[in-house]
Amino acid sequence: MRVRIKGETKDFKTVWMEERIVHMIDQRLLPHRFEIIQLHDQRETAEAIRNMAVRGAGAIGVTAAYGIAQAALQAPTGSLEAFKAYVNEAAKLLKATRPTAVNLFHAVDRCLRVLEACETVEEGRERIVREAERIAEEDLEASRKIGEYGNALIRDGDGILTHCNAGALAFLDYGTALSPIRFAHRAGKRIRVFVDETRPRCQGARLTAWELLQEGIDHVVIVDNAAGYYMSRGEIQLVIVGADRIASNGDTANKIGTYEKAVLAKENGIPFYVAAPAMTFDLKARSGGDIPIEERGEEEVQWVWGVDEKGERRRVRITPENSPARNPAFDVTPAKYITAFITEKGIIYPPYPENIKKAFG
Ligand code: MRU
Repeated sequence: MRVRIKGETKDFKTVWMEERIVHMIDQRLLPHRFEIIQLHDQRETAEAIRNMAVRGAGAIGVTAAYGIAQAALQAPTGSLEAFKAYVNEAAKLLKATRPTAVNLFHAVDRCLRVLEACETVEEGRERIVREAERIAEEDLEASRKIGEYGNALIRDGDGILTHCNAGALAFLDYGTALSPIRFAHRAGKRIRVFVDETRPRCQGARLTAWELLQEGIDHVVIVDNAAGYYMSRGEIQLVIVGADRIASNGDTANKIGTYEKAVLAKENGIPFYVAAPAMTFDLKARSGGDIPIEERGEEEVQWVWGVDEKGERRRVRITPENSPARNPAFDVTPAKYITAFITEKGIIYPPYPENIKKAFG
């Protein structure tokens, strides 16, 4: 993605690996500060996923693959058995970071399959690093293709609602929900994006708004409960969201609040699209009930981060001290509310069980 910092324009990927070091944009600080952090081993990389320096389904998948590559490069080389045990331990650590986005599990498992097939430590190191890079390249290419296919669904003059951040920051570049929007904008279509703020971590207000601003795309940030108002006034013509895990029947886990936007879209006769790559489909999950939903700490609801008028980062409390809070990070949108999936293989329409299997089975 193209980023303007202090008058200069530079291209960045969300995450990349150089030698043994994983580099990433620290998403906790955006939009107020742009910083790159470096993670020196799989433990630091796992911690960056857990503390959400990196977040978004594709980005955490690629980061986890890099974590396995770091483990392979740092593992003891004395015996193949010890090497494999060390990498398997790293896989456990990485898989325990966040439970919902299936990209992370697919990425780690792909690296483990390569590990299993290796006959020497040298071969293991080399092939795992290559596999991690391949996962990164595929992520980028899938996001680009999603943009090309999705662009066809957007007309000149459309108002588009999106929820959370399924942009370049949630992958390596382009994004999923934001990729068709970028392509439509680059094709000269006049569009306006309605950005749900996406409480409690405000990925919409902080990250999606920042990305759209970088690319000069017309947008407005709205509070999470304003979408129905704008839909009913005819200002929104379509909804595009991302996904963290899609079951084989099309039920889709995405950021908390997605479900209610889908119901509202149906009520208002507005198409509701989910943009996601093959890596986000979980064909072992038969329906949304099989998808694990992450529950996060109550402090994320009780406190908010921002900057004061001097630009200093501050955290302030917004609830009474003794009010408990609940904080599910995702919800499941039943397949019946989803007009189509925008994927790197094209647009998938119902019936989903058959058509998802045809595309990815
Ligand atoms: O908790 P996050 O920020 O990692 O959640 C992931 C998301 O940003 C969204 O659910 C997004 O819409 C899908 S990720 C491509």
